[in-house]
Amino acid sequence: MGAGKSTLGPRVAERLGRAFIDLDRDLEQDLGTTIPEFFEQRGETAFRMQEEGHAIAALRLPDPAVIALGGGAVQTPSIRNELRERAFTVLLEVDAETAWARSGGSGRPLARDESDFRALYEQRRELYEEVADARVHDGDDAVLAAAGVHVQLGALEALGSLVPGDGPVALVADPHVGGIYGAAAQVALGARLQSVHEVPPGEAAKATDVVERLWTELRLERGGVVVALGGGSTTDVVGFVAATYLRGIEWVPVATTLVGQVDAAIGGKTAIDLPQGKNLAGAFHWPACAVIDPATLETLPEEQRLEGMAEVVKTGLLAGEPLWELPTAQLVRRCAAYKAAVCLRDPEDRGERAVLNLGHTFAHALEAAAGYEGLTHGRAVALGLLAALRLSGRPTDVVEHVLEPAPVRVDRERAWDALRRDKKARGGAIHLVLLGPDGPVVEARPDAEVRSALDELIAE
Ligand SMILES: NC(=O)c1ccc[n+]([C@@H]2O[C@H](COP(=O)([O-])OP(=O)(O)OC[C@H]3O[C@@H](n4cnc5c(N)ncnc54)[C@H](O)[C@@H]3O)[C@@H](O)[C@H]2O)c1
Ligand SMILES: [Zn+2]
Repeated sequence: MGAGKSTLGPRVAERLGRAFIDLDRDLEQDLGTTIPEFFEQRGETAFRMQEEGHAIAALRLPDPAVIALGGGAVQTPSIRNELRERAFTVLLEVDAETAWARSGGSGRPLARDESDFRALYEQRRELYEEVADARVHDGDDAVLAAAGVHVQLGALEALGSLVPGDGPVALVADPHVGGIYGAAAQVALGARLQSVHEVPPGEAAKATDVVERLWTELRLERGGVVVALGGGSTTDVVGFVAATYLRGIEWVPVATTLVGQVDAAIGGKTAIDLPQGKNLAGAFHWPACAVIDPATLETLPEEQRLEGMAEVVKTGLLAGEPLWELPTAQLVRRCAAYKAAVCLRDPEDRGERAVLNLGHTFAHALEAAAGYEGLTHGRAVALGLLAALRLSGRPTDVVEHVLEPAPVRVDRERAWDALRRDKKARGGAIHLVLLGPDGPVVEARPDAEVRSALDELIAE
């Protein structure tokens, strides 16, 4: 009571693309009276019976919804059971003072006397803890919890308790990351650690020979878990190995780069490269959970941090908030939550998830024109964001200040061909993710406009 369920619930539902059900409000409609009145006339027992029917019906709806339960609903054993069986239950935390300040004098039947209210708070607390799958303080927390993403300073040390189940664990890292964080991860995994494996640092990890070696080295059974400790290259290849080994086993990315923490470890896309191009063989394979410890970014070289900042600026532009200005740990949490929500709304990349490609049509064209050498993805995205902002009629100063993009020297025809090949594969006009007044939109733009935006990114 007074935690803010009715305020937060609809926001979380919107972010997850699901319906919102406020059980107390629904009940009042059905009963044709207010809850205080019903309490007055029929008593709490009669109320709990009505509540039970409604709560269980809502929890059994075929389309999953975000449901705000009444504060006392968890007192009913059958509701607790249903929560355990069918729901992902989040406890929206609030302290007794705040809850009383919000509920006292509101006319709610169980919030008339402060000491009774506090006693009730203590009494219910245990039940809340029992049913909760996660504890949250705000909407980002709720979205991250629903996506199984743990963002927390010190998460690496807590790895043992975050990796689900109790089966054996195989740990994979590149020698550099393994050298810095491998020991901490091994200690955290304790007796569950079965084996340790190495992949090459950087993009070289995303190769068929690496996949084949990992397939043969692993000794896990179906109940085992592979933990990928490192940046996006490590998590991409390990996720793909997990998707295919024994037809799919669980995996957990532990992201140690900014790119990994705000992008690669979230959303379940895994892939390796083929000689024909990047990310051409892969699978959608959602991790059992993702572990993000912003403290690991302290050892990240500056140029790697800038790679991640390009995705951070992209995310901030999409969210319409200057997320790039936040201190690192908050910035990571907010960006991770933004991506997690988009991916939960569109887990298999069939629609809305395309917005995450803001600036990327241009970036991919420039990368292809550079032959994937001498131009990093982050620098290409910084340029791509410039083009997207110009075509959206927006100022570009943020990208200029934060990312300092410099035009690249690549062949103009080659870049244009790559862009058209990428975008015209489906025929028709070039469609781009742009920023409209209310957020991202996918829009068709004439070839000439797109071409001149691309040309502006290329040095003479
Ligand atoms: N699956 C997805 O949704 C997705 C999204 C974005 C990017 N990606 C992929 O991610 C890859 C790029 O990943 P990346 O940018 O994280 O880099 P990376 O994984 O290639 O790592 C880059 C370098 O940073 C080092 N490193 C990693 N963490 C460190 C730390 N904490 N301290 C010091 N050094 C550290 C590594 O040893 C490596 O040498 C690309 O292949 C890209 O395709 C995937
Ligand atoms: Zn990107």
